[in-house]
Amino acid sequence: MNPVEIKKDIYWVGVLDWHIRDFHGYSTPKGTTYNAYLAMDEKIALFDTVKKPFLKEFVASLSRIIDPKRIDYLIVNHVEMDHSGAVPEMIELIQPEKVFCSPMGKKALIQHYHREDWPFEVVETGKTLSLGRKSVSFLETRMLHWPDSMMSYIPEEKLLLSSDGFGQHWATSQRFDDEVDAGELMKHAAKYYANILMLFSPLVRKLLAKVAELGIEIDMIAPDHGLIWRSDPGSIIEAYGRWSRQESTRKALVIYDTMWQATESMAYAISEGLKAEGIDFKLFNLRLNHRSDVMTEVLDAGALVLGSPTLNNGMMPTMADLLCYMKGLRPTGKIGAAFGSYGWSGEAVKQITEAMTEMNMQVEEGVRVQYAPRKEDLDKCFELGRQIGRAMNAAQSA
Ligand code: FEO
Repeated sequence: MNPVEIKKDIYWVGVLDWHIRDFHGYSTPKGTTYNAYLAMDEKIALFDTVKKPFLKEFVASLSRIIDPKRIDYLIVNHVEMDHSGAVPEMIELIQPEKVFCSPMGKKALIQHYHREDWPFEVVETGKTLSLGRKSVSFLETRMLHWPDSMMSYIPEEKLLLSSDGFGQHWATSQRFDDEVDAGELMKHAAKYYANILMLFSPLVRKLLAKVAELGIEIDMIAPDHGLIWRSDPGSIIEAYGRWSRQESTRKALVIYDTMWQATESMAYAISEGLKAEGIDFKLFNLRLNHRSDVMTEVLDAGALVLGSPTLNNGMMPTMADLLCYMKGLRPTGKIGAAFGSYGWSGEAVKQITEAMTEMNMQVEEGVRVQYAPRKEDLDKCFELGRQIGRAMNAAQSA
C-alpha cells in the first residue's frame, strides 16, 4: 500500500498482511499490518521495519517518498521479528549513520542477527534525538512486551509511536481510527491486549502513570499494528487503564468441551443458574472457539466456569490447552468453578479446580457427574450457576 502522511512530513510506510491467520497461536481472522514510520526532516529517520517476507514491498513503498539510501537513522523500537525481520537487509541498503535502540534492544538485535558491527546508539528513557525541526524522545517500556521494547515520542507533533502498545491485528485499507467502525476497532484492540499484554498489566498501569507524571501530551498514537489513533487517542488510553486494572463486568463464561453431550448439558444448566441471578453469560465450546477469542472474553469476565469430561484420567486436550495459555496470561480477580461428566475415574474436575486455584481464582466447589446427568444432577449444576452468580453479585457490590 502507498505511504500515508499521518502528520506533516511523517509517513506511515507499513505493509498489510491480509492472509495471516495464526500469529504464534493468536487467531488473526482479519489479518494484520506491520506498521513502520518515516520522519522527513534535516535528518531522515525510519522507525521500525516489517516482517521479512514483506521486504520488497516495504522498500517499494519507501521509495515512493525518497531513495531509501537517504535515510540517516534507523530506530528499532522493538526486536520481535514482525518488526525487525527486515532490519539486516535495510541496514545493508540504507547504510544508516546510526541504529537507535534500547540497551536490551542492542543485546537482542545482536542475539538475533549476530552483527556487532552495526552502528548502534543505545538510548534510555528521556534521551532525545534532534532531527532538525522535530525531535524524538525515547521511552523504554521494558517487558511491554519484550525486554527491548521502547516507544518514540515526537513532541512537536504530540505523536507517540507506540510499538506494539495500543495495536490491533486487523488488516484494513483505512489507516485511522475515525475511518473504521469504532466498536470493531475496540474489539480488535481488546483481543490484542488480552492475548499479548494482559500478563503485563501491572507494567501497563505504571506506564500510564509515568506518561501522566511526565505530562506527555498525546494527540496521536501510531502503533506497529493496525489502525492509528487519530481522532480519539484518549479512548484507547482509557481502555488500557480499565483493562490493566482487569475490571470485571457482570459477565460469566461457561467454557467446556464435551464427548457425548453430558458435560454440555451441565453447561446449559449452569448457565440457567447464572441467569437466574441476573448474570450475563456466554458459552464457549472449545471445539468451536479459538483460545485467543476465549481469552478476549476472559479480559472483563467476572467468573469462569470450566467444564471437561474425563479422558484417559485427565481433562480434554482442548481444556489443557486453554488452561496452559490462560495461566501464562495471568488473569486476576476471577471467580472459578469446574464441572464435568466422567465414566470411571473422573479426574478432570479436580485437575481443573487445581489449575484455577494456582491462578489465584476464588474457586467454588465444582460438580462431577458419572455418565449422563439425571435431573437432580442438572439441579446441582443450576445451583452451582446460582452460587457463582451470588458470589459475583457480592464481589460487584463490595
Ligand atoms: Fe508486533 Fe512484539 O511484535
